[in-house]
Amino acid sequence: QAFNERESLYIALNFAKNLFVENLKSDEGRSIGLSYFKERGFTQEIIEKFDLGYALDSWDHMLKSGKKAGHSEEILLKAGLVLQKDDDKARIYDRFRNRVIFTIHNLGGKPIAFGARILTQDKKQPKYINSPETEVYHKSDVLYGLFQAKQAMRQADNCYLVEGYTDVISLHLAGIQNVVASSGTSLTEGQIKLIKRFTDNVTVLYDGDAAGIKASLRGIDMLLEGGLNVKAVVFPDGDDPDSYSRKVGGEIFQDYLKNNARDFIEFKIDLYAKESEGDPIKRAEVIRQVVQSISKIPDPIIRTVYVKESGRLLSIEEDIVLAELNKILLKGE
Ligand code: CTP
Ligand code: MN
Ligand code: MN
Ligand code: MN
Ligand code: MN
Repeated sequence: QAFNERESLYIALNFAKNLFVENLKSDEGRSIGLSYFKERGFTQEIIEKFDLGYALDSWDHMLKSGKKAGHSEEILLKAGLVLQKDDDKARIYDRFRNRVIFTIHNLGGKPIAFGARILTQDKKQPKYINSPETEVYHKSDVLYGLFQAKQAMRQADNCYLVEGYTDVISLHLAGIQNVVASSGTSLTEGQIKLIKRFTDNVTVLYDGDAAGIKASLRGIDMLLEGGLNVKAVVFPDGDDPDSYSRKVGGEIFQDYLKNNARDFIEFKIDLYAKESEGDPIKRAEVIRQVVQSISKIPDPIIRTVYVKESGRLLSIEEDIVLAELNKILLKGE
C-alpha cells in the first residue's frame, strides 16, 4: 500500500508509454509504425522527444504485459489502457490496437493519456482513438504539446494554437517550438488558463477548411474573453499547419506565419469581406461580427483601441462602431 491510486495510474501509464515506444522498435513496429512516421517526415529525434510509439496488432499485448509487470486489471482499466467487453464485463481487451501512438503528457512531462491514429484509409473506423477521461486525465485541462512548448512559449512570449497532434510535431520540425494543440475539441476555459500561465499572446493556426475556420472563430472569442491578445493565420483550403509546412518547408512556412498573422479583427474582416463585397447589408453584418468579438475583451482600454482600429479598417466612423459595441455590452448586463 505504498502508493495511492493516482500514483498507481501514473506508473501504469508510464509503463504503457515505454511499451508503445519499445513496440515501435520491434519488427512489426518498424515495418508498420516507424515507416508511417518516416513517411510523414518525422525524425528519430522528434519521435523520441514526443514519446511516439506503436500499439501492436493484438487484443491483449498491453493487458498481458501490464499484468506481468505487476499492474492490476483494475488499474489498467482505470488508466484507460484496456476495456471491458460490453456484453461480458469479465472479458478485457486492449483499447489501442494496430495504431501509431501519440503520448499525451502533463505539465511535468508524465504520460497521462494517448491518442492513437489508424494506419489505413478505413472510413468505418475513427481516425483517432483517444484515452477516456480518467482520474489523472481531464481532457478539458490538457493541451497537447504544452510540456514540450512551455519554455519556448515563455521565451517567445507567444503561443501557436493548432488543432492536431501532427500539427504540433510538424511545427517543431519546422523549427517552431511554442505550439500546442486543442486536439480537435473546442477550446476550453481550462486550456486558456493553461496558456496564460506562460504567455498572453496567442496565434491561432486552425485547419484551412470550413470546420477549422468555424472552430477558430469560436476559439478567438473565447481567447479574447480570457484576456489574451489574439492573432490568426489562414491556410489554403485543404491544408492544415502540418500539410502546409511539409509542402513548403520550414523556412517558407515560418515566413508565411510572419506575413499572414492577422489581428483577430483583420482576420474577421477578411473572412466576411469576401462575401460582402458591394453588398451594404452584408457589410453591416461584418461590422456587427467584428464588434461582437471586441465586446468579449474584458479590458475597456484595449476595447477602445480595437474600436479605433476597426473604424479605420472598415472605413466607417468610430462613433458607429462604439454605438454598436455599447449596445452589445448593455445587453450583456
Ligand atoms: N481528433 C480526434 N478524433 C478524431 C478526429 C480528430 O481526437 N476522430 C483530434 C485529434 O487530436 C486530431 C485533431 O482532432 O489531431 C485534428 O483532427 P484532424 O484535422 O482530422 O486530424 P490531423 O491532426 O490533421 O491528423 P492527420 O494529419 O493524421 O490526418
Ligand atoms: Mn482530478
Ligand atoms: Mn480538420
Ligand atoms: Mn488537421
Ligand atoms: Mn493533418
